[in-house]
Amino acid sequence: MGKKKVYLDWVATTPVKKEVLEVMMPFWLEKWGNPSSLHSCGQEVRKIVEKTRKEVEELVRADRIIFTGSATESLNLVHKGLIEGLNKTDCLPEIITSSIEHKGVLETCEHLEKSGLAGVRYLRVDGKGKISMEELFGAIKKETVLVSLIWVNNETGAVQEIEEVGKKLKKVNGERKKRGWGKVWFHSDITQGMGYLDFDMKRMGLDLASMTGHKIGAPKGVGALFLRGSVSLVRQIDGGGQEAKLRAGTENVAYVMGLCKAVKIAFKGKKEKRERTEEIRDYLIDGLKKMEGVVVNGSGKEGAPHIVNCRVSGVEGESLAVLMSDEGVGVSTGSACSSGDLKPSHVLTAIGLKPEEAHGSIRFSFSEKISKKDVDYALESFSRVIKKLKRIRKGIK
Ligand SMILES: Cc1ncc(COP(=O)(O)O)c(C=O)c1O
Repeated sequence: MGKKKVYLDWVATTPVKKEVLEVMMPFWLEKWGNPSSLHSCGQEVRKIVEKTRKEVEELVRADRIIFTGSATESLNLVHKGLIEGLNKTDCLPEIITSSIEHKGVLETCEHLEKSGLAGVRYLRVDGKGKISMEELFGAIKKETVLVSLIWVNNETGAVQEIEEVGKKLKKVNGERKKRGWGKVWFHSDITQGMGYLDFDMKRMGLDLASMTGHKIGAPKGVGALFLRGSVSLVRQIDGGGQEAKLRAGTENVAYVMGLCKAVKIAFKGKKEKRERTEEIRDYLIDGLKKMEGVVVNGSGKEGAPHIVNCRVSGVEGESLAVLMSDEGVGVSTGSACSSGDLKPSHVLTAIGLKPEEAHGSIRFSFSEKISKKDVDYALESFSRVIKKLKRIRKGIK
């Protein structure tokens, strides 16, 4: 009999849902026209894409959805596109973001800083991974053009109070208008929140939000930018006039349809899904806390339902992940995109971990599909692996 396999890396990616695949299939073999073509073969597809886009816009309360190839592309479009779309003045525009953003934001901001196009202020976070409202609102100045905050952190599961920021920012913008100052736009990387937390652009006061399909049961290689209001962006991919002239290139229709279906599914029964996943998270945390030398990092039970990060004293996260994989359990040492990077995780150091503690950390991430039996198996494997690594460290076979 094969070894049991437990996939606990749902933050890295999720399997495509059967219903999502079913919605996608006709767009390869039957409705394969180019939506920009004027003949019926293309126009039939255009109608379906636009109807579906509208349905999702209504669901998330966005005025417009721009389909992209990934969340990363959406993040690039927001940050670079917004800065490039500003009327040129003598002042250097400023972006306020947090120190625990995904690399898609951090590297884009760094690019803007290095190119001399924007200044960037990186907010600190506390031990639970939360920004301080005081620091954020104290940092806003005349030159500030964008506040960009990750909703659910992909490494620790810390959840930022996006709605509260949105409400406060609305007031700030009211005052700025009276002074004749420009608006501070509000963006969030909602990639890891979409599947579990209530999302509503209007209620949360967001002007822009970025997401990707493969974290919620759609394929890899399709993402979206949700827009509300009149923000002006300069597109980052030049060419044809697709996606309201904000993203050139023929739409990947099947994938776009898959992403839309996955968003619709995510909106159904979210509360039950969240509660069930929280139960699994708490069960896992309780199990980890009973293990000697294991410490849960960051927000723990106050964080997102599907992410738990922990550290083990005296062992390497990489070795833990490799030996866990030998046990049939898939876990991660950080975000999949940055693993292989020898630097300690910027998120874990930002919440106050020492480099060696960050190196000894691993992330469990899951979904409502994971059972307590799966967690029991993962915990038993974890315990075996830790003992093995400690024995190796002491030179005992
Ligand atoms: C919070 C967050 N933002 C952005 C991304 C990037 O998504 P993609 O690889 O689809 O561009 C990820 C993926 O790990 C993520 O977790």
